[in-house]
Amino acid sequence: MKHIIAPSVLAADFANLQRDIEMVNSSEADWFHVDVMDGVFVPNISFGFPVMEAIKKHATKPLDVHLMIVNPDQYIERFAAAGAAVITVHYEACVHLHRTVQAIHAAGCKAGVALNPHTPVALLKDILADLDLVLVMSVNPGFGGQQFIPNTFSKLRELKAMALKLNPELIIEVDGGVGIHNLEDLMDAGAMAFVAGNAIFSAEAPMEMISAMKNLNTGTLKI
Ligand code: DX5
Ligand code: ZN
Repeated sequence: MKHIIAPSVLAADFANLQRDIEMVNSSEADWFHVDVMDGVFVPNISFGFPVMEAIKKHATKPLDVHLMIVNPDQYIERFAAAGAAVITVHYEACVHLHRTVQAIHAAGCKAGVALNPHTPVALLKDILADLDLVLVMSVNPGFGGQQFIPNTFSKLRELKAMALKLNPELIIEVDGGVGIHNLEDLMDAGAMAFVAGNAIFSAEAPMEMISAMKNLNTGTLKI
């Protein structure tokens, strides 16, 4: 499988959201990464249903929804109805994670679990076979534009080894401080889906940056 590029809408220009969404539509990106923050689970508030519905209205690619909220169970059906293809909840926010994953599947979405930088991947052992995706946070969630935490590499390698045994189809996604500079190393460590906010939307030529990230391992495009 070729790797997945998921531009994070959090770094888009919200006053020109339609323009930025159309840029991603016509780019080589695979998914839209949609960061929902509640100001409780993380020390920031991003956006909720009205903005997500506006994104869905224009997006022609799947919405990869990253819920940085407490009690995500309460909102799963609404996020599914608002157009989520993947719903990722935080391990740290779910007391009954297995039930939450079942609810995401029942709502017709792929189920992901995100891990904060301090949360060991080994804690996923007994749920891994039920997941479609694991999102390894390479920054503390809450803000775009933060510095990548290098310990992520060993977490990715450990997760990849677990996935080979327990769930070879698992998508391993990495989020935070990801860009063209560390993509190949992250791929080598086992990641196959890459969230990038600032690396794409703050680039001089965002579409070309997406192409460069998408084609990196093929050697067809070098920047
Ligand atoms: C952070 C979010 C990320 C964020 C990444 O809490 O989960 O998706 O948008 O932004 P960059 O790529 O700029 O680090
Ligand atoms: Zn995210």
